[in-house]
Amino acid sequence: MKIVNMKTLDREQLTQAAQMLTDELPLGWPALADAEAEVNERWRDEADALFLAAVDGGAVVGWCGILPHYDGRVFELHPLVVRRDRQREGIGTILVNEIAKAARDRGALTFWLGADDEKPGGETSLANADLYDNLPDRIREFAPGTHQSAFYMKLGFKVIGVMPDANGTGKPDIFLAKRL
Ligand SMILES: CC(C)(COP(=O)(O)OP(=O)(O)OC[C@H]1O[C@@H](n2cnc3c(N)ncnc32)[C@H](O)[C@@H]1OP(=O)(O)O)[C@@H](O)C(=O)NCCC(=O)NCCS
Repeated sequence: MKIVNMKTLDREQLTQAAQMLTDELPLGWPALADAEAEVNERWRDEADALFLAAVDGGAVVGWCGILPHYDGRVFELHPLVVRRDRQREGIGTILVNEIAKAARDRGALTFWLGADDEKPGGETSLANADLYDNLPDRIREFAPGTHQSAFYMKLGFKVIGVMPDANGTGKPDIFLAKRL
């Protein structure tokens, strides 16, 4: 498996990247066309953005991107996805570590992401909670449950905030960050 800049991918590989985005994150990208728009438009528009893909035997098995904020002092991880049948093999970890290195090389101090807790019923302890009541304690006692924030916490990210009701009542966007 190798990690490559997504600008080097061919059309078929870009379609594979889009397909796994809509397969894995259908709430954000409901149809293949939505995911293809994300894949095709992102790096044309953002000068300092970088997108990396994990390619194995010619097939894209995962990909991720970074977008600069705050004059490049802060980079956002967006998006990150690993193909379903290749999850839990360490590919997500490799992608995050590689793109974090690239963000650091670009001068970033902070690496962050928003992880929506949007599934029906909620997955984390911040879903369906009154986030206007004692938020510092709720963040200190954060429990990820089945949510992907557990993956980021294993990589050293910490919960630094939350946007209440970002995806509807009781469905927050959870902000995680780590120092570069
Ligand atoms: C989240 C995701 C990117 C993780 O990638 P991955 O390649 O499966 O992760 P890794 O194999 O590198 O896992 C690293 C560690 O995190 C754990 N982990 C991975 N996904 C997890 C999850 N959803 N919940 C809890 N722990 C998880 C792994 O078990 C592993 O733990 P270990 O080191 O103790 O063995 C991948 O599952 C995915 O694409 N999910 C769907 C899309 C998504 O949620 N994207 C993120 C949006 S914010």
